[in-house]
Amino acid sequence: MITSSTVFGHDCEPAEYAEIDPVQLLSMWIPAPGDAPPPLMALATIAEDGYPRARHVLLSEYRGGAVYFHTDATSAKVAELSVNPRAAVTVAWPEIGRQVSMYGDITSSEPQLDQAVYARRGRYLQLLAWLNTPEIAALDPARRHAAWARFDAEHPRLEPPPNWVGFALEPKELTFWRGDPLGPSQRTRYRRDKDRWTVEVLPG
Ligand SMILES: Cc1cc2nc3c(=O)[nH]c(=O)nc-3n(C[C@H](O)[C@H](O)[C@H](O)COP(=O)(O)O)c2cc1C
Repeated sequence: MITSSTVFGHDCEPAEYAEIDPVQLLSMWIPAPGDAPPPLMALATIAEDGYPRARHVLLSEYRGGAVYFHTDATSAKVAELSVNPRAAVTVAWPEIGRQVSMYGDITSSEPQLDQAVYARRGRYLQLLAWLNTPEIAALDPARRHAAWARFDAEHPRLEPPPNWVGFALEPKELTFWRGDPLGPSQRTRYRRDKDRWTVEVLPG
């Protein structure tokens, strides 16, 4: 059984990297839903002016070799993805010396997963998905808080709002960065080549 520490242990031979399935390795790095809070990932999209835009979103789930995130259908990122369904994401765990970066094509997620992800979100984030609107953002703090408290009191149980949407990014390329307190950091980059992955070992 390959573990992430044996894979990226300091004594790992570069030739061994070719044996590793990056999809399996990523599943070891990303906590299963419920095991830990969802990781925060930087998500970059391409806007119509050709410049990238980046923001953080929660990594809702990793399944079937794709990372999923959820957002508001009226957001800028969704408009950008509808024109250019390509994105890059990066997640870092600096306290344990890890980063994974990837890019690829974006597709819509499945309604069942969207529902499950919403149900797992804490009460604050469930409310936020309903109340993160331009109208409420424009209110002064007292009115904003009152609108929040009223909605909260009136809706003890919440379903996902109509604007709740999910997306999947299936990586074409995956780069694992590993810090090493005894020496230089190192990366392994896996590129999808039809049905197989090619690997490259790079300096960190
Ligand atoms: C810690 C943190 C977690 C966030 N999680 C999400 C998220 O899961 N989904 C989301 O749409 N926005 C999330 N946001 C807000 C986004 O960073 C961003 O401000 C918002 O989605 C609007 O982005 P856009 O206008 O580029 O589409 C999060 C922000 C922070 C700081």
